[in-house]
Amino acid sequence: MKKNDIGVIGLAVMGSNLALNMADHGYDVALYNRTYSVGEKVMAENPHDHLHLYEALSDFVASLSAPRKIVLMVKAGAPVDRVIDGLIPLLDQGDIIMDGGNSNFRDTIRRTEAIEAQGLRYLGVGISGGEEGARFGPAIMPGGSQDAYAHVSAILEDISAKAEGEPCCTYIGTDGAGHYVKMVHNGIEYADMQLIAESYSLLKHVGGLNNDELAETFSEWNQGELESFLIEITAQIFKELDPKTGNSLVDMILDTAAQKGTGKWTAEEALNTGTDASLLTSAVFARFMSADKQARVHASKELHYDAPTIKIEDQKAFVNSVKEALYASKIIAYAQGFDLMKRASSEYGWNLNFGEIAKVFREGCIIRAKFLNRISEAYDKNSDLANLMLDSYFNEKLTTYQKSLRDVSSLAIQAGISIPAFTNAISYFDSYRNERSNANLIQAQRDLFGAHTFERIDEEGHFHHEWNE
Ligand code: 6PG
Repeated sequence: MKKNDIGVIGLAVMGSNLALNMADHGYDVALYNRTYSVGEKVMAENPHDHLHLYEALSDFVASLSAPRKIVLMVKAGAPVDRVIDGLIPLLDQGDIIMDGGNSNFRDTIRRTEAIEAQGLRYLGVGISGGEEGARFGPAIMPGGSQDAYAHVSAILEDISAKAEGEPCCTYIGTDGAGHYVKMVHNGIEYADMQLIAESYSLLKHVGGLNNDELAETFSEWNQGELESFLIEITAQIFKELDPKTGNSLVDMILDTAAQKGTGKWTAEEALNTGTDASLLTSAVFARFMSADKQARVHASKELHYDAPTIKIEDQKAFVNSVKEALYASKIIAYAQGFDLMKRASSEYGWNLNFGEIAKVFREGCIIRAKFLNRISEAYDKNSDLANLMLDSYFNEKLTTYQKSLRDVSSLAIQAGISIPAFTNAISYFDSYRNERSNANLIQAQRDLFGAHTFERIDEEGHFHHEWNE
């Protein structure tokens, strides 16, 4: 009997859709789920000649051609370790385990080491695009050994999204590199979403746009340089009505954002690698703050601000300023995300190719956007670019659009509207382009209270000053 090409363990939304995607591409896919009935349901709902469900893990493993290729689509964390522990005794030397979940890159590094020490091969594969992406073409970020990747590259590239005919799947680097890049993708995703949400606050509360006008505005923005999946779905959201009340659905949704942790890991990594990713981090903090609903309801009655009435003379011009502020901030969000990857690349020895990473983000994933072509061009021109903002295209855009970012940020502050991502964006821009910062004073303070020493502008070395009592 013909053996299966690949196996998928974990048949929840992402796993079952990825398996169907593989089956549609002609691969024979073995399926296994801890609770067998879940697999039966998937089979009943999606009958497919290329899908083969197994009740026993040993039968699933035995059905695979050598070297066996098994994708884990289970919840990140302990469940991944549990599945690996169950698999190892059933596998042979050279077999390949791939983790397609949102695993923490440190777990992936640990697992790679432990699994490869036993003669097996391991890939940590970042997959983005949600249910739709998994089914019809996600962006795929595989990390691990080149040798293991060579065995699965054809399948992964086949099932991935395509941008201008090229697969949105490329080998990222060793051990945790793929999951790291996926994590940063999510950090950028949080920032993109937060910036859009802040634009919404401004357009609604300062610009006075209603939901129909918001839908129209975001649809228009999606025709230009902001064209992206997240802008497109935002336009769609403003059109949706609540079947229960007939109101706009967006107005009926509680204002507390949830999260599964990848944005937080990005923020932690900014701290670990010493990277200013304040905009990305602000998006994570904004979700925490949103979740503190009870405290906010209480504080809204205690902490007062009499906002002046802000009159927008020209609504169209204001909408355009918000658009420019959003674009400028988006550049800064990506600048921070790519800076984080640059630092991680040298810290963890990954030799990341940023032009290729930008290309992978072009289609299939949540942050897919026209804009990504510009990023990949920037790194094609200079693979060693110190910061995305220094690329001539982005530099020119920031030169032109920063006025709008400053203007709308000032207006929001005057109006008492919280815009942490916008303000972090402009602060980052101003810090980065500032030749002489105020840290001379910080150093003086450190030396005064703790004799921590300072360096001088006119002489090499570390100095301590006897400060007057
Ligand atoms: C993707 C997404 C996905 C993530 C969701 C929800 O690339 O397909 O990043 O992996 O799970 O976006 O993330 P939060 O629950 O943290 O918002």
